Amino acid sequence: MKILITGGAGFIGSAVVRQAIRDGHSVVNLDALTYAACLANVAEAAKSPDYAFEQADICDAAALTRIFDTHQPDAVMHLAAESHVDRSIDGPGAFIQTNITGTYTLLQAARAYWEGRRQPADFRFHHVSTDEVFGSLGETGQFTEETPYDPRSPYSASKAASDHLVRAWGETYGLPVVLSNCSNNYGPFHFPEKLIPLVILKALSGKPLPVYGDGSNVRDWLYVEDHANALLTVLQKGELGRSYNIGGENERTNLQIVEGICSILDEIRPVNHPHAELITFVADRPGHDQRYAIDPARIRTELEWRPSVTVEEGLRKTTEWYLANEGWWRPLLERDGVGKRLGVA
Ligand SMILES: NC(=O)c1ccc[n+]([C@@H]2O[C@H](COP(=O)([O-])OP(=O)(O)OC[C@H]3O[C@@H](n4cnc5c(N)ncnc54)[C@H](O)[C@@H]3O)[C@@H](O)[C@H]2O)c1
Repeated sequence: MKILITGGAGFIGSAVVRQAIRDGHSVVNLDALTYAACLANVAEAAKSPDYAFEQADICDAAALTRIFDTHQPDAVMHLAAESHVDRSIDGPGAFIQTNITGTYTLLQAARAYWEGRRQPADFRFHHVSTDEVFGSLGETGQFTEETPYDPRSPYSASKAASDHLVRAWGETYGLPVVLSNCSNNYGPFHFPEKLIPLVILKALSGKPLPVYGDGSNVRDWLYVEDHANALLTVLQKGELGRSYNIGGENERTNLQIVEGICSILDEIRPVNHPHAELITFVADRPGHDQRYAIDPARIRTELEWRPSVTVEEGLRKTTEWYLANEGWWRPLLERDGVGKRLGVA
C-alpha cells in the first residue's frame, strides 16, 4: 500500500513511517518541518526506495493537490498537528490554523483526489487524534468511543474540531474515513519539551525536575512503537466511519513517572545523590486535566490489538535511548521555547 503520512517528521508520525517501511509499504512523508520536526527521526527509513519526502504545509491547498496527483496514494494517515498543550495556551492561533484549517484543507484535497479516481472503496483517510478531546476524568471511569466530547484546552478543542470535520466528510461526502484517539505517547525521538524526555535530560544535567501542581494528574502511557503498530492495524482492519480508542493500559500519575525515571537513572547513571532529590513542584498548568484513561475494549475485541510494552519496560528503554543518543537531542535544546516554562497564561 502507498500511504501518505502527514507529520511524518514528528514524534509519532516518524514511528509510523519507520514501521510502515519495515512492513513493506510505500510512504510519502508530508511535513512542513516546524520547530517540532526532525528528519533524523526517519533517517533509516529514508534510505528505502519506498520512501519519499514532501516539505509542505497542510494549509496549502495547491501543494496538497500536486502531492496527491504526483504520488497517487492508497491511503492517508493524518498526524500533522500542533501538539503541545502548553504552547496552545500561549499561542492558540497556530493550533486553530494547523489542526482545524489544515485538516479541512487536507480533507478537501483528499476528497477531490478520491472523487477524481471514481471513489475507490478501499481508499482510507485515517485521522489520528487524542483522548484529550474527551475532557477530564475523576478517580474512576474510562473513555469509551461513545464518551461525549468535552475538550478543555485550546489544543484539545482544536483536535476535537478536526475529529468532527473528518466525521462530517465521511457522512456528507462518503469519504472513507476512520479515526483513532490515543493516550499519552512516550519513547525514542520524543521532542524534549514533553514531560518524559524533559525530565530525563534535566536529571542528566542535575537541574530541578519540574512537576506541575502536586503531580497527581494521571495519564495512560502508551509506548510510541505500540501506537504506530496500532495505527497501522486501524488503517488496515478498522471499520469504515468508526473510531478506535488506543491506550497503553498503563495508568500512572506524573509523579510516579518522574520517580520511575529517577530510579532508573540512579541505577544506570548514578550520581552522589538520589535523582529524586531534584524533584520540584511548580505552579500547575491552567485547566490541567486531572485524569485520562482509555477503555480499550473495542480495539482489543474488534481488531485484536493490545499494547505490548509495560510502562516500566518502556521507561527503561526510553531512558537508555536518550543516554545513547545525545547527538539527536542536544541540538533540539536550542530550538525556540525548549527548556522554558510555557503555558502559565
Ligand atoms: N504525543 C502524544 O502523546 C499524542 C497523543 C495522542 C494523539 N496525538 C496526536 O498524534 C499526532 C502526532 O503527534 P506528535 O506528538 O507526533 O506531534 P509532533 O509535534 O511531534 O509532530 C507534529 C509534526 O507535524 C508537523 N506539522 C505541524 N504543522 C504542520 C503543518 N501545518 N503542515 C504540515 N506538517 C505540520 C510538524 O513539523 C511535526 O513534524 C498529532 O495529531 C497529535 O494530536 C499525540
